[in-house]
Amino acid sequence: MAQEAAGEIERRTGGGPHQVAVILGSGWGEAVRHLGDLDTEIMLVDLPGFATSTVPGHGGSVRSSWIGNRRVLTFQGRVHLYEGNPPHTVVHAVRSAVMAGCDVVVLTNAAGSLNPDFQVGDGVLISDHINLTGQSALWGPPPPEPFGSRFVDLTDLYAGRLRAIAREVAPGIGEGVYAALHGPNYETPAEIRMLRTLGADLVGMSTALEAMAARHLGAEVFGLSLVTNLAAGVGESKLDHTEVLETGASAGGRMGEIIRGVIERL
Ligand code: 6GU
Repeated sequence: MAQEAAGEIERRTGGGPHQVAVILGSGWGEAVRHLGDLDTEIMLVDLPGFATSTVPGHGGSVRSSWIGNRRVLTFQGRVHLYEGNPPHTVVHAVRSAVMAGCDVVVLTNAAGSLNPDFQVGDGVLISDHINLTGQSALWGPPPPEPFGSRFVDLTDLYAGRLRAIAREVAPGIGEGVYAALHGPNYETPAEIRMLRTLGADLVGMSTALEAMAARHLGAEVFGLSLVTNLAAGVGESKLDHTEVLETGASAGGRMGEIIRGVIERL
């Protein structure tokens, strides 16, 4: 299905393969203006295998653009496990992008912070994840030839090479471990204390399965979280999705600049 979607993307965009995929998370819509001039936009409903997103703030399209001499596919309208999607649907955009030629996959998300060093509005490089969704991108029958083993090695999943480039683009940017939970509820304060003990700095409901799928197909992964709120019990305020969208609206442009800078230096 991903190969079919990639074929359709190639047919509609013309002019050969793409090199970089960007998956935009909740509230990241503003970033798109910094990710190159729009060449072609395809609605995801017009591509095989894409589910419709049910979350406000998720658009549902893929944009083809150029940054320098690289062709970029930017997906808006990610789908999540908590909407009732199976893992293969959640990772379909990533697989389609890799099949369309992308060997670098940029995964963005909105995250809650567990680390006092990371405040609302901060971008944080994902150094690693703790997948607590209970799901895997490789769940199901073994991948067909030539798509490698299902027993995929996740060492250096969030490429150190790409994080080093990002530190040149955004000196002083923090780095942390992202805990991926199934959602859609936010965590209890007790769960957040547990996650802190486990070594998490950020918490969210996406990214981990997509990172795995990208690695499985041999692409490099770059992960960037935007802290949209402090996790339960860390700050005083209540958690709600409008805060996530508002923070994205004000910080999304800055985040887009970082991604653009990384792509320009690849
Ligand atoms: Cl606090 N938790 C989860 N699971 N996802 C989030 C979040 C918190 N803040 C933004 N996304």
